[in-house]
Amino acid sequence: MIFTNFDLIYANMQTGKFSNFVLLIKTNKMAGKIALVTGASRGLGKDSVIALANKGFDIILTYQTKKEAADEVVKVIENLGQKAFSLPLDISSTAGFDQFVNEVKSILDTKFNSAKLDALVNNAGIGINESFETTTEEILDSMTNIHFKGPFFLTQKLLPLLNDGSSIVNTSSGLARFSFAGYSAYGAMKAAVDSLSRYQAVELGSRKIRVNSIAPGAIETDFGGGAVRDSADYNNLISSQTALGRVGLPDDIGSVVAFLCSDLSKWINGQRVEVSGGFRL
Ligand SMILES: NC(=O)c1ccc[n+]([C@@H]2O[C@H](COP(=O)([O-])OP(=O)(O)OC[C@H]3O[C@@H](n4cnc5c(N)ncnc54)[C@H](OP(=O)(O)O)[C@@H]3O)[C@@H](O)[C@H]2O)c1
Repeated sequence: MIFTNFDLIYANMQTGKFSNFVLLIKTNKMAGKIALVTGASRGLGKDSVIALANKGFDIILTYQTKKEAADEVVKVIENLGQKAFSLPLDISSTAGFDQFVNEVKSILDTKFNSAKLDALVNNAGIGINESFETTTEEILDSMTNIHFKGPFFLTQKLLPLLNDGSSIVNTSSGLARFSFAGYSAYGAMKAAVDSLSRYQAVELGSRKIRVNSIAPGAIETDFGGGAVRDSADYNNLISSQTALGRVGLPDDIGSVVAFLCSDLSKWINGQRVEVSGGFRL
């Protein structure tokens, strides 16, 4: 039986003595739903797929180079009782997108017995710290391709594979609202992600597809060489400017991504949701 996304599920049980006995099951699970999350071999993507699996989603996750780490994440999800499969993807190169979409179709068909996805989380990305003055054309192209052009065209190519009523979550950053020296190229691309999300929400609303962006504050991951996690000075600086008095952890983010992919957020659309513990309010 495939349960749908209702808090109360009415299940008909057929037994020898009691036919059509109605069983009420309390759940907020999204059983039978499938999410594709890019860059989920570690960091925020990994926490997001675990949170999504806890909500009942089956998962297709991507990695760029760390296949073994991605395979470990697949095992974690399977241990939670959900299906999972990992695929390589370089989000900076649109040349590989047609093949990637074909691989997604094939996995949906052969592993998930489904034709379509219900959620897409554009998460894959990298951080750099480079002053405006020293940012080269190559660096700017790289930030554009990874954070904006890649998710733009990947989402476009995946549209036929998204069920009507799906949810898209694009990953922005707190750095699109506040400014730190060294993030002009990165922060500007994340601002573009926020803008793109609103335009996508306007155009995809006719298919009841919701599009929101999540804007994490500084989180302890490998991002940017792991500076938030590994540099005590940087960590203390961010904590001192955060209302809740600490930096973020990956599990501060995954639950919000899962919320935005679930029907619990069914009336949130075209919004930038900052998840920073109240940084520089
Ligand atoms: N951490 C923060 O403080 C923070 C704050 C705001 C926003 N964000 C955003 O959150 C997202 C995830 O960051 P994170 O902190 O989780 O980083 P992370 O721990 O460094 O993980 C990055 C993930 O993206 C994948 N990836 C990197 N480059 C890729 C490429 N060219 N193509 C496809 N996949 C690629 C990596 O795959 P491999 O493991 O195979 O290398 C990995 O799965 C990024 O978009 C980032 O900009 C992070």
